[in-house]
Order: sequence, then C-alpha cells, then structure tokens
Amino acid sequence: MSAHMRILPALVLSSMVALVAALSPVAAQSPQPNNSSDVVKKGEYLARAGDCVACHTAPEGKLFSGGRAMPTPFGTIYTSNITPDGTGIGAWSADDFYNTMHHGRFPDGGLLYPAMPFGSYTKVTREDSDAIFAYLKSIPPVHQPNRPHELDFPYNNRSLILGWRTLFFKEGEFTQDPKQSEEWNRGAYLVEGLGHCGMCHSPINALGGSRESEAFQGGLIPMQDWYAPSLTSNKEAGLGDWSIEEISDLLQKGVSTRGAVYGPMAEVVFNSLQYMTDEDIRAMAVYLKSIAQDEPAPPRTSVRTQEASLLISLGKAVYDKQCASCHGAGGEGRPPHYPPLAGNQSIQMESAVNGIRMVLNGGYPPATEKNPMPHGMPPFAVTLSDDEVAAVVSYIRTAWGNRGTPVSASEANKLRSAPLQ
Ligand code: HEC
Ligand code: HEC
Ligand code: HEC
Repeated sequence: MSAHMRILPALVLSSMVALVAALSPVAAQSPQPNNSSDVVKKGEYLARAGDCVACHTAPEGKLFSGGRAMPTPFGTIYTSNITPDGTGIGAWSADDFYNTMHHGRFPDGGLLYPAMPFGSYTKVTREDSDAIFAYLKSIPPVHQPNRPHELDFPYNNRSLILGWRTLFFKEGEFTQDPKQSEEWNRGAYLVEGLGHCGMCHSPINALGGSRESEAFQGGLIPMQDWYAPSLTSNKEAGLGDWSIEEISDLLQKGVSTRGAVYGPMAEVVFNSLQYMTDEDIRAMAVYLKSIAQDEPAPPRTSVRTQEASLLISLGKAVYDKQCASCHGAGGEGRPPHYPPLAGNQSIQMESAVNGIRMVLNGGYPPATEKNPMPHGMPPFAVTLSDDEVAAVVSYIRTAWGNRGTPVSASEANKLRSAPLQ
C-alpha cells in the first residue's frame, strides 16, 4: 500500500497551467460560525477541501512546513512553510493571506508561481479565506526557512509570471448561478475553487496554461505520465450517466461499482475528498454530473488488421491467466473492491496511458474512512514483456463491447520509466 500514502507531487506545470478555470460565480453558504474555535474548525475543513497538505507538507516533513519538491519541465519548485512561524506566515495578516489566495501575490506585492493554485483559489470567499487563515494560525509553528526554487533561466525570473497571468489568470470570487440549485452552486464552488480540480483536469498547452474554454477537458500531467481525463466528456471521466450515489462513492470512498480511483486521483481522495461531509460530496456530485456531456462516438476503425487480431488473442491468454481471477472472465470485476473492466470508461479513453501504467505498476485505491482496507492490484512490470503488456491492455480496451483502440509495445515500453510518484 503505498502510492496513495505518499503525497501528490504536484506538478508545477500543471499548476502553471491550470488555472483559469473560471466557469462561473460564487457561493458559499456554510453556517456562520459564532466563535473562534468554530472558525478554526471550519478553516481546518476548508484546508482539507483545498488539499493544502498535499503540497505544503513534505514526505518526511512537519505539517505545513513546506519544502516539498514539485518537479517541472523547467526545474524544481519548493513549496512554502505556511505555519505561523517567522519563517512561515507568522507575521502575516488576514489581508495578506487573502491577497495570496485571491490575487496570487506575496504581502510585498511580488508574484507567486502558479504552482500554487491561486487560479482556482481566487474563487474562494473572503470569509472562507479568513477561516483557513485562522486555522493555519492555530497549528504548531515550525521554524524552517523556505528552500529557494531551482528553476532554469529564464523561468527563475518572477517577472515572467506576469505574462502567464495575462494569458491565464482570471481573478474573482465565485458567483452563484441563480438558475441553478443551492446544492449545485455549492458543488461548483468547491470543484472550481478550493478543489482546484481543473489544475489537473485541463489540457496543458505549450505555455503551461490551461485555457479557460477548456476547463475540465482533461490532459496529460507533465512530469508524472498520468492522464487526467476530461470531466466534461462521458467518453472519459464525465459522470453524466453515473448515479449520484456512484459518484459520491468514487469521490469519498475511492471505490464504486463503476470503477476505482488510482494514481494521482487516489492521492486527492486520500488527502482531501474523504474528509468532505456527505452533503458537500453530494453537491460536488450534482455539479460534476451536470457538466458532463455525451459526445458523438468517434468514427471507429472497424477493420482490424491481422496484427491487431493476433495481439488481442495473445492479450486474452494473458488476461485469463493474470487478471481474470480479480476482474472476472467477462471483465465484470467484483465491485466495489475489484473494479469492473467491461464498460469502464477509464480504460476506453483515447489515451491508453493510465491502463498501461496500472498494469505495469499495480496500485491500491486510497484507504478511506468508508473503505479502510482497500484491496490492491499487483504490478506486472517484471512478469510481463512489453508485448504482453500491450496485448493485455489492447484486449481489455476492446473486449466485452469496450470501444478503445489497441496499443503498441513501444507505448508500453515508454511508460516503464514513468515516475512511481
Ligand atoms: C499544487 C500545490 C499546492 C497546493 C495544493 C497549495 N499550494 Fe500553496 N503554494 C504552493 C507553492 C509551489 C508555493 C510557492 C509559490 C512561489 O514561491 O511563488 C505556495 C505558496 C503558498 C503561500 C505563500 C507563502 C510564502 O510565504 O511563500 C501560501 C500562504 C499558501 N501557499 C497557502 C496555501 C493554502 C492555504 C493552500 C490550500 C488552500 C495551498 N497553499 C495549496 C503550492 C501549493
Ligand atoms: C493532481 C491531479 C488531480 C487533481 C487535483 C484532481 N484529479 Fe481527478 N484524476 C486525476 C487523474 C490522473 C485521474 C485518472 C485516474 C483515475 O481515473 O482514478 C483522475 C480521475 C478522476 C475521475 C475519474 C475516476 C474514474 O476512475 O472513473 C474523476 C471523476 C475525477 N478525477 C474528479 C476529480 C475532482 C472532482 C477533482 C477535484 C476535487 C479532481 N478530480 C482533482 C488527477 C487529478
Ligand atoms: C489481485 C487482484 C487483481 C489482479 C490479479 C489484477 N487486478 Fe487490476 N485492479 C485490481 C484492483 C484492486 C484495482 C483498483 C486499483 C486502484 O484503484 O489503484 C484494479 C484496477 C485496474 C484497472 C483500473 C480500472 C479502474 O477503474 O480502477 C485496470 C485497467 C486493471 N486493473 C487492469 C488489470 C489487468 C489488465 C490485469 C492483469 C494483467 C489486472 N488488472 C490484474 C485488482 C487486480
């Protein structure tokens, strides 16, 4: 069990990227806390929703003392100490803190790298920002000066961030959509704001930005070699034909009768989503279901070459021997612990990266309060050759009515060197 115990190495780029996922407006209707310990509790909860811990706590480090390395194509960024020490944010005011969350600026006006997802956090209300600040003020201070970033020229020059901001940063709190229910608005506020889901689930362009018009449309996460599928397409991770209960289970338990979370998404559930209340999870599910669209099926190349047929029959042999015991001879799985592969969107997407990586590396869904003892999948990197990996992935992508396409041995080979997180 391990991948999920580690914290998400966030990617800078994707952060650099991300962000401007600005769909709409804002809302926050949490009950008014009436004393300071309620405010601190609320702030702790909101910090969970924002997954601050994933980036601001290093693997062996103290809570929120920073120093976590975020590898990027341009070098390494190190996260900041956000404990109430002089080396952290001890001298900051609530205004300073809001300024960082909302405008992406340090107290002296300097610009933050978008590896800190202020492109999403800008949607957070002042009241919620103040609660998070009150919570951070209440945790044990840790004396640990920030480690300087190790970025290549010219990315080490913060004035470049200005260009990124002009292209990709849209400042502004979330505004409610009055045509939608309160529940939908609450879900939208969490997904677009604190949840910073668009940081990974948006395509990444050459400039390391996510285009607003493509918010939640999916993309390959740089430096990690995982594909974060589109949340707006039912052909990928769109949840349009999932029930609210299935979506809620996936987000909160990490497993559902439709599939399980894995890779970086398992970290998100482990560190953040499992702590959300049933109401907030439901609100996110309602919102996520509403943004997913059916898309016309892509034209299918139904002519199967002889080569592809051979590959797929080798794949069936590998599957029956290595996989069927858990996933079932007909791909039906034994949900929720062993996810079904027949009809599973996750393995039929155009990008086959995730399926190949699951076979090479195996994995565990996150251990969550509602699923404390997840069942795992063994890695096959050593047992199976590139041809066998390609064959079995081609098989599961095309068997049982699945609509994926075959993959090649060289695609499988390339992913052998992907970071294990
Ligand atoms: C995806 C990774 C990531 C997440 C998630 C994240 N941060 Fe950050 N944060 C960073 C990075 C990287 C920096 C340093 C940015 C820089 O140096 O320009 C930073 C800087 C900051 C700073 C500035 C502190 C200083 O003195 O440098 C504050 C405050 C902060 N983050 C608060 C938060 C809070 C609160 C949350 C959760 C709501 C959060 N961060 C979530 C990556 C992250
Ligand atoms: C650090 C990057 C990252 C962040 C942040 C992130 N995701 Fe994901 N997500 C992924 C990756 C990678 C996958 C593919 C793995 C998988 O399907 O579990 C994924 C998969 C998913 C799936 C499909 C799961 C399945 O198996 O069908 C859903 C739904 C989803 N994410 C929702 C969200 C929501 C909602 C948020 C914000 C609260 C979010 N994600 C934040 C990276 C991320
Ligand atoms: C010991 C049981 C077991 C075996 C054997 C096994 N798996 Fe898995 N598989 C799992 C579990 C458990 C998960 C969920 C893992 C996670 O969420 O990280 C999973 C997840 C997957 C996924 C991701 C689907 C999703 O929605 O989560 C794919 C693809 C997959 N397995 C393919 C295979 C293939 C192909 C083989 C044979 C080469 C195989 N598995 C063998 C237990 C198994």
